[in-house]
Amino acid sequence: MKKILVVGSGGREHSLVWKLSASSTRSKIYCAPGNAGIARQAECIPVKAEDIAGLTNFARQESVDLTVVGPEIPLTMGIVDSFREHGLLIVGPDSQAAALEGSKVFAKDFMKKYNIPTGDYRVFDSPDEARAYVRKHGTPLTVKADGLAAGKGVFVVMTEEEALTAIETILDRKAFGAAGKRIVVEEFLQGEEASFIVFTDGTTILPMPFSQDHKAVYDGDKGPNTGGMGAYSPAPVGTPEVHEKVMKKIMMPAIEGMATEGRKYQGILYAGLMIINGDPWVLEFNVRFGDPETQPLLMRMKSDLLPVLEAIGNGSLHKTRIEWDAGAAVCVVMASSGYPGRYEKGKIISGLEEAESINDAQVFHAGTARSGGHIVTNGGRVLGVTALGGTIQKAIDHTYKAVAKINWDGVYYRRDIGHKALKQ
Ligand code: AMP
Ligand code: GLY
Repeated sequence: MKKILVVGSGGREHSLVWKLSASSTRSKIYCAPGNAGIARQAECIPVKAEDIAGLTNFARQESVDLTVVGPEIPLTMGIVDSFREHGLLIVGPDSQAAALEGSKVFAKDFMKKYNIPTGDYRVFDSPDEARAYVRKHGTPLTVKADGLAAGKGVFVVMTEEEALTAIETILDRKAFGAAGKRIVVEEFLQGEEASFIVFTDGTTILPMPFSQDHKAVYDGDKGPNTGGMGAYSPAPVGTPEVHEKVMKKIMMPAIEGMATEGRKYQGILYAGLMIINGDPWVLEFNVRFGDPETQPLLMRMKSDLLPVLEAIGNGSLHKTRIEWDAGAAVCVVMASSGYPGRYEKGKIISGLEEAESINDAQVFHAGTARSGGHIVTNGGRVLGVTALGGTIQKAIDHTYKAVAKINWDGVYYRRDIGHKALKQ
């Protein structure tokens, strides 16, 4: 029996645990630290995702055969370096390769060097020079903190005043600490966003289908950005022609370029794209699975995930094929009202079993906990209800049918997940 460790505690990690638990290879799955939903399919261990030494020790003591990492922070901190030093098999980039997400300055300079299409940009550490540039250049623009800021370090600014506020927030007030020592000021790109995520062993690239996230908190993409309020796959904007361009102009040069830089990239690579008149431009790289994109993607994945992850770790991905469901999958995130701002926790969730009894629906847990025999809310994004359907419309219908069964005091979710795909 194999032992597998999944690192993280969100909806993305629950979908990984769910998919791995359906593997034809019988295995014991651990999750660190996990959540109340994950606890049904895995043994949750109370070690935080950022506790690299604690996770390494656990994997050594238990002789874990394979580890897969959900969030970016342990990757940029060097969890892969640490596991490899101890001869443990782990899927993900080492700290050198994880700089593709850990530093936007590194990622932009890298893309420029290898001719990967991305918006024009300038890098500043002096707020006065940044202000002078913005006044001369004018808006719209984007202003981005260099380092990791939990998705909060990116400002899309429409006026000079907003641009100056963003510069002040990051460089003068140091709202993101050391992650904001430098900023990237980047050209504003207008088009349709899509996510393109691949498996790679550093040589072979196996893509997942296109997906699309809904970052804004309210219907119609209004309101502040969140970690993601829902996702669907496939994304109609990702035509076969666009797919080929992304592979040729972005993914292949990125994987080859990283190897040339002495930062061989192994793991999951996520390109956040803007598709403009049929051409893909990179907004950002993430060095991991997307959340919530992974939930619909793994529901569409017909092949066993475990051999794919093992092949990444062993460098034998060229021997692997992946089959995908020809239909669609939609994930609706059910959140605590107030998120991404302040919200309350500890509300009793009802209707979970009824929702899961709906055909082809899965309820992936994110911010949940067990308390007094109940499952209660324990975070901003609480659940990711995900369902398959022959078409996007059918997947939307199945998902919202399951969503309607679930309730708690203060539940909030978007009603329009997937609608953009229907318009295409
Ligand atoms: P990032 O974390 O860099 O992907 O940025 C977060 C979000 O900001 C993206 O999902 C886009 O919605 C938006 N964004 C980032 N860069 C740009 C850009 N150059 N032009 C327009 N919107 C952008
Ligand atoms: N869904 C966006 C992300 O995972 O970064």
